[in-house]
Amino acid sequence: MTDATPVVVLVSGSGTNLQALLDACDDPAYGVRVAAVGADREGIAGLERAEAAGVPTFVLRVSDFETREAWDVALADRVAAHAPELVVLAGFMKLTGPAFLARFGGRTLNAHPALSPSFPGMHGPRDALEHGVKITGATLFLVDEGVDTGPIVAQVAVPVLDDDTVDSLHERIKTSERGMLVEWVGRLARDGYSTDGRRVTSPRKKESA
Ligand code: GRF
Repeated sequence: MTDATPVVVLVSGSGTNLQALLDACDDPAYGVRVAAVGADREGIAGLERAEAAGVPTFVLRVSDFETREAWDVALADRVAAHAPELVVLAGFMKLTGPAFLARFGGRTLNAHPALSPSFPGMHGPRDALEHGVKITGATLFLVDEGVDTGPIVAQVAVPVLDDDTVDSLHERIKTSERGMLVEWVGRLARDGYSTDGRRVTSPRKKESA
C-alpha cells in the first residue's frame, strides 16, 4: 500500500460530504488522507466534523480581506501549506479565483446537486423541480473559471418524485452525491486520471498479483 494521497477539503455548511470522506479515510485501503479542512465562515458543522476527526482547520472570510483577489491568493496559500494532491470543494459556497486555479486548477473537484450542464448555480434542486424534470442528480467535476462548468468526472441520476419539495429532493440527491464523491475521490487518488479536452478518464489500475 502506498502512502495515502493528501486532500484538502473546503466547506461552508453542514459538511455531510466531508463526513462521508472522513469516514471513508478510516480504511487505509481507501488511500486518501484529509490533510486539512478550510472554510469561508466560522461556526459551521463542517468545521466541527473536522475537529472531531482531529483534522487541522482554517477559516478565511472574504470580508477580512481588502479585495476578493487578496482572499483568493490567501486561500491558495493556506491550501498549499498542506501540500494536497487534490482539493475537494464539499459545499464550499464561494467561487475560487484565478490565483487559486493557477495553482490548483485541474486537481480541484466540486460536487454540484444537478446533472450538468443543466441547472448550474446555487439552486440546482430548486431549478430542476421548477423545470419539471423527472430525473436529476449530482455531478462531480474539475473546477474551472465558470460556475459548475468544468470537465465532468462522474454523475449520478436521482428520480424526482411527485411530492418532492426542494428540501426532500436535495436530501435525496445528497445521499447519492456522497456515495459518488467517496467513490471517485478514492479512484482518482488511487488510480490517477487524465483529461483530454472535456473528457476525464481514470482507468483502474490492475490489482497486483
Ligand atoms: C451539496 O449538495 C453540494 O453539492 C452543494 O451543497 C451541498 C453541501 O452539503 N454545493 P454538505 O455541506 O456536504 O452537507
